[in-house]
Amino acid sequence: MRKGFLTFAAVGLLATGSMAACGDDSSSNEAGGDTAKKPKIGVILPDSKSSARWETADRRFLKAAFDAAGVESDIQNAQNDKNAFQTIADQMITSGVTTLMIVNLDSGTGKAVLDKAKSQGVATIDYDRLTLGGSAQYYVSFDNEAVGKLQGEGLVKCLTEKGVKNPTVAYLNGSPTDNNATLFKNGYDSVLKPKFESKEYTKGPDQSVPDWDPAQAATIFEQMLTQTGGKIDGVLSANDGLGNAAVSVLKKNKLNGKVPVTGQDADVTGLQNILAGDQCMTVYKAVKKEADAAAELAIAVAKGERKETGQTVKDPESGRDVPSVLLEPKAIDKATVKDVVADGYVDKAKLCTGAYAALCTANGIS
Ligand code: BGC
Repeated sequence: MRKGFLTFAAVGLLATGSMAACGDDSSSNEAGGDTAKKPKIGVILPDSKSSARWETADRRFLKAAFDAAGVESDIQNAQNDKNAFQTIADQMITSGVTTLMIVNLDSGTGKAVLDKAKSQGVATIDYDRLTLGGSAQYYVSFDNEAVGKLQGEGLVKCLTEKGVKNPTVAYLNGSPTDNNATLFKNGYDSVLKPKFESKEYTKGPDQSVPDWDPAQAATIFEQMLTQTGGKIDGVLSANDGLGNAAVSVLKKNKLNGKVPVTGQDADVTGLQNILAGDQCMTVYKAVKKEADAAAELAIAVAKGERKETGQTVKDPESGRDVPSVLLEPKAIDKATVKDVVADGYVDKAKLCTGAYAALCTANGIS
């Protein structure tokens, strides 16, 4: 069933024909730009602290996709600075980018950047995070509620395996300014809320972590443990960075491995925590597919082409149906860490260092 969805999304994108097919089409550019211009794509990544993915995966795969298409690109990172984000966007527009692709730091500043680009005839794409009330022509991401659902299901599986009766579950949610964090929470709530309501589980502390910042997550989680007198049996943490923060606090309290922790992004630390038994699961999102789909669209819109994505997402703020590509996430546990390596997402040499070498061998990672 899941496979069907993926195929559908991929076909949706491909059904529009090859991206070079109408390269010389002189029809007017959707964003009002000059269709004769050579594509030049500007990408603004959000930061490098909230997740390793942006610098280790997204940048690499996007660059490879643009290079393979022979298209000039400029990929920059705003390092969680909203002013820098706007400055980078202005510079990119001045330098003549034909498409601007952004991962917003919040919807307000993201919208300002998208609107300005649009007013200058620059095509726009929301990459990974939807800018609420924004004007991007396309949105490329994963099915983010499905991500949260996998996290909720993963935590239930780990708690069941540990045989914990009436477990107290704490939430470490993502940034309150990231629409994805809302979607992830909707997903895990759909699994866990019924269990809280039926009193099978007990709802523990529930907090959002500003900017997805792992350092703040550690402080928050430390307070959660103190406040509950150590009575936390499972942690739904929204990504690997937050999960690792929880694991580090649990380690200090000699509770690591006893309290299951979830994650997302399949980063090296998250996977090592899984191999060590300190993290229960992560969610792998094949960023290469996301980057490839976004690059294909970015090049097409730069040429003034219209692409059928076969899917839309309703912007809850404006009610606009945004043409979207939503890819399918996958849950990863100890037995499937090897799949992430086999997919070329994480390097075996980086994962299987020191004490992890033996764990890699034991778990079939070659
Ligand atoms: C992304 C996650 C990432 C988080 C923090 C979210 O919008 O979808 O993959 O872990 O931001 O950067």
